[in-house]
Amino acid sequence: MPEKIYFTTPIYYVNAEPHLGHTYTTVVADTLARFHRSMGREVFFLTGTDEHGDKIAQAADLKGIDPKEYADHISGIFRSTWETCGISNDHFIRTTDDYHRNFVQEVLQKVYDSGDIYFGEYGGKYCTGCERFYADRELVDGKCPDHETEPEWIKEENYFFRMGNYQEALLRHIEDNPDFISPVGYKNEVLGLLREPLEDLCISRPKSRLSWGIELPFDSNYVCYVWFDALLNYLSGLTHVKGPAYGEFWAHSHHLIAKDIVKPHAVFWPTILLAAGFPLYDKLHVHGYWNMGESKMSKSLGNVIRPLEMRERFGLDGFRYFLLRDMAFGMDSSFTEDAFITRFNADLSNGLGNLASRVLAMQNKYFEGRLAPMLGPLEGGDLALREAFTTAEEKSKAHLEGLAFHLALEDIWKALAACDKYVVETAPFKLWKDESQRARVGEILHILCDALRHAARLIEPFMPETAQRLAEMLDTDPGCLAEPAPVWGETFSPGHEVAKPQTLFPRIEVRS
Ligand code: MSP
Repeated sequence: MPEKIYFTTPIYYVNAEPHLGHTYTTVVADTLARFHRSMGREVFFLTGTDEHGDKIAQAADLKGIDPKEYADHISGIFRSTWETCGISNDHFIRTTDDYHRNFVQEVLQKVYDSGDIYFGEYGGKYCTGCERFYADRELVDGKCPDHETEPEWIKEENYFFRMGNYQEALLRHIEDNPDFISPVGYKNEVLGLLREPLEDLCISRPKSRLSWGIELPFDSNYVCYVWFDALLNYLSGLTHVKGPAYGEFWAHSHHLIAKDIVKPHAVFWPTILLAAGFPLYDKLHVHGYWNMGESKMSKSLGNVIRPLEMRERFGLDGFRYFLLRDMAFGMDSSFTEDAFITRFNADLSNGLGNLASRVLAMQNKYFEGRLAPMLGPLEGGDLALREAFTTAEEKSKAHLEGLAFHLALEDIWKALAACDKYVVETAPFKLWKDESQRARVGEILHILCDALRHAARLIEPFMPETAQRLAEMLDTDPGCLAEPAPVWGETFSPGHEVAKPQTLFPRIEVRS
């Protein structure tokens, strides 16, 4: 396992404010970053905003303001949204940052000097929503499959990148590295693209038409094409922060994206890297769409759910839990408020929340919050409960490595269900009535507090706020959430005092 690891989200366009779709990828990257940190790895987690190009220039124009002013505003909203949502990114990149512009210009010059960029004329169908040309066979009924709009015919003199020079090398790399692009369906989609001859990539826009971009270092009449500029963020941000040590992170780089931007990431980006003399990134992970009914949730379709609103109404962790639990990474999922509420009430309110409050209420009622000693080594049902957590930990780790967040949570919730079963079977509230059994009741509750502490560790990457609150209620060092796992029965000394229960997830009442 690598000691250093790098996670990225796409850098989001600043023509729209963050919605559930952007939040999903960012929460996924955050969960992975937290998990790998808890495993003792040095993580670099990068997100940011993509601020150049036609799309942004047009959006700013509509508002009648300067593109930079407009970008400052929306980029600030992304940044503060992620802060409010507890996203643990190590850096936030903006493509209007000076260090990024310098990096892009250096790469452009290098590729130009090596002969892979030439001047020529091209006409093609351009979708401003996607900021790329489309071949006829990629269109559906003549429209962009994503934006459902007809692309515009653009013909002009421009600079082109000889992407085809790297087609064979990329094909070979994908074939030799079966996990380069996952899930496999997307890898096959890319292999399909690479079976056709790759057209050269237009990497410039004349300033006479669009001036909002990074100037080409070899021709001041042109700015750089927004994807060429944006993709380089993954290296400019990393090298800016990590300096010469960047290579150790780059060797274990994981890009997280949705299926809308597979071609730029799986074809444009690796060929740019090869042309610029950088090693290829390690892995590209592609997820599906969050839909509303039949359509993709997107600003252009006007059907979005806002993360801050969800946080305000239901709390951050309920939202994170739903996103990670209800989408199998790689597949599409639909958002409905009913599904959200059902999941929240069943798994969080009645599940984890109820368990924590029952255990802490009994601990307070019977022992004034103080833990009783263990009576001996774990046996029978006590041991089975520990085993349920050991299994949950092993399985959830393996699922997290495989990006199967929903399965990791399902396994953790099996351990929580084992706690509920343990409470029913050991019935501490009944045993308490028999005075000779009170020491045993103390032991049962001690074991359950241990279980809650383990639960806090396991949920931390997914629900950091709840993990923290649980740790506080158990009055444990929050550092207990990291590795190595505490030993059952040795976590708390007898007499350790836990807090009174608080409601972690107030039940959502549905108005009829
Ligand atoms: N700026 C480019 C990316 C450049 S990366 C070098 C871009 N930006 S975007 O704002 O359109 O963001 C697209 C990404 O947002 C998707 O790949 C995905 O991560 C996320 N999502 C936006 N809408 C989504 C859904 N409805 N469902 C799932 N993810 C979605 O493309």
